[in-house]
Amino acid sequence: MGLFDFKSVSYISDDKSILKNLTMTVEAGDYISIVGPSGSGKSTFLKLCCHLISPSEGTVYYKGRTILEQDPMEVRKQAVYCFQTPYLFGDKVEDNLVFPYTLRHAKADFARINELLSTFGLDKELLKKEVKNLSGGEKQRVALIRALLLKPEVLLLDEVTSALDVENSMIVEENIKSLNNEGTTVLWVTHNLEQSRRNANKVLTIEGGEIKSLEVLR
Ligand SMILES: Nc1ncnc2c1ncn2[C@@H]1O[C@H](COP(=O)(O)OP(=O)(O)O)[C@@H](O)[C@H]1O
Ligand SMILES: [Mg+2]
Repeated sequence: MGLFDFKSVSYISDDKSILKNLTMTVEAGDYISIVGPSGSGKSTFLKLCCHLISPSEGTVYYKGRTILEQDPMEVRKQAVYCFQTPYLFGDKVEDNLVFPYTLRHAKADFARINELLSTFGLDKELLKKEVKNLSGGEKQRVALIRALLLKPEVLLLDEVTSALDVENSMIVEENIKSLNNEGTTVLWVTHNLEQSRRNANKVLTIEGGEIKSLEVLR
C-alpha cells in the first residue's frame, strides 16, 4: 500500500456529487501537483487526505489503515493542510508560529522561526505585528511558515503562492522542493502550469470531480 490509498472514494454534499469514484495511490516521497478547473474538487481532495471531511462512499487509507479509524488530530500533525485562504488566529503573528510547538508540548524554536521568516523575505519584527494588519502576501507566507516549521511528513498545499510575486513564489518552491528531498510528501494544488511541472514527479488532473489523468514526469 502507499502512503494514501483512495479506493472508490466519492464525496457528496447537499445532494451534489463533488468527487466521483476516485481510486489512486500517493507513494511516500511523492511530489504531486494537482491541477484542474476551479470547482473541480481539488481542495475537497486535500481535505479528505487530512480527515477534515469524510468520504460519502469508499475508503481513504493512510499508512495502510482506514483514515476514519485514526485520531484526526494525530493525522493532522503528520499531514499538514495549508488553506487556500490563509487562516491565521490569535492577535499576533507570533501566536501562529509558536502554536505548532505548543501543540506538541515543545519549546518554540525561534532560530527555526527566524530562519524561515528570513528565507521568505519577512522581517523578524513581523512577529509582533497584529494579524489583522498583514497584507495578503504576508498572511500567505506566515500560514505557510506555520505549516513548514516542524517539517511535517506530508504537506497539503492549496494554492499557497497565489498572492505572491514571482520571486517569492520561486523561493517557496525551492523550499518545498528541499523538504521533499528530505522526505516530506507533497500534494500541491496550483493554477500555475509551469509551477505544476517544475519540481513534481507526478501531475494529477481533476476535472468535474473525476481523475482525468495521473501523469508521471520523472
Ligand atoms: N462543504 C461543501 N458544501 C457544498 N458544496 C461544496 C462544499 N465544498 C465544496 N463544494 C463545492 O464542490 C465543488 C468543488 O469544490 P473544491 O474542492 O473547492 O474545488 P476546487 O478546489 O477544485 O476549486 C465546488 O462546486 C464547490 O462549490
Ligand atoms: Mg480549491
